[in-house]
Amino acid sequence: MPPQTLTEKETELTELARNALQHAYAPYSGFRVGAALLTTDNRIFTGCNVENTSLGLTVCAERNAAYAAISHGDRQFLKLVIVVDQQTPSMPCGACRQVLFEFSPELEIIAVGSTNQIQRSNLRDLLPNAFQYKPR
Ligand code: THU
Repeated sequence: MPPQTLTEKETELTELARNALQHAYAPYSGFRVGAALLTTDNRIFTGCNVENTSLGLTVCAERNAAYAAISHGDRQFLKLVIVVDQQTPSMPCGACRQVLFEFSPELEIIAVGSTNQIQRSNLRDLLPNAFQYKPR
């Protein structure tokens, strides 16, 4: 896939992520984020960032999308589209990378800016040597 082109499915994910972004609650940072996650069952779950006056309680769009999927019984993710309402695309933060890695280390990630600038990556590249351990 050429880096600056979206497939039909990715275009659908981008539209759904932009819908979710409209619900972002970001009065403190003003940085609004929407995410759409495609699962192996071909279902799509979305999320937006939700901030709190106790700033550390803020949850990112990506984690809200992942937790929505998990809450509906889908734990295997194929693609994540992240949108922001600024030109420069934005990749997931470190905390979200770790959460997503738990379920889908091969996840494909597409960050899309407000005028469709596209940045592609995958979770293995974004989180090399991820923390993992086997419970005793
Ligand atoms: N944020 C996300 O939603 N996703 C990220 O990957 C990075 C940051 C949100 C959290 C906060 O509401 C705002 O962006 C600024 O950090």
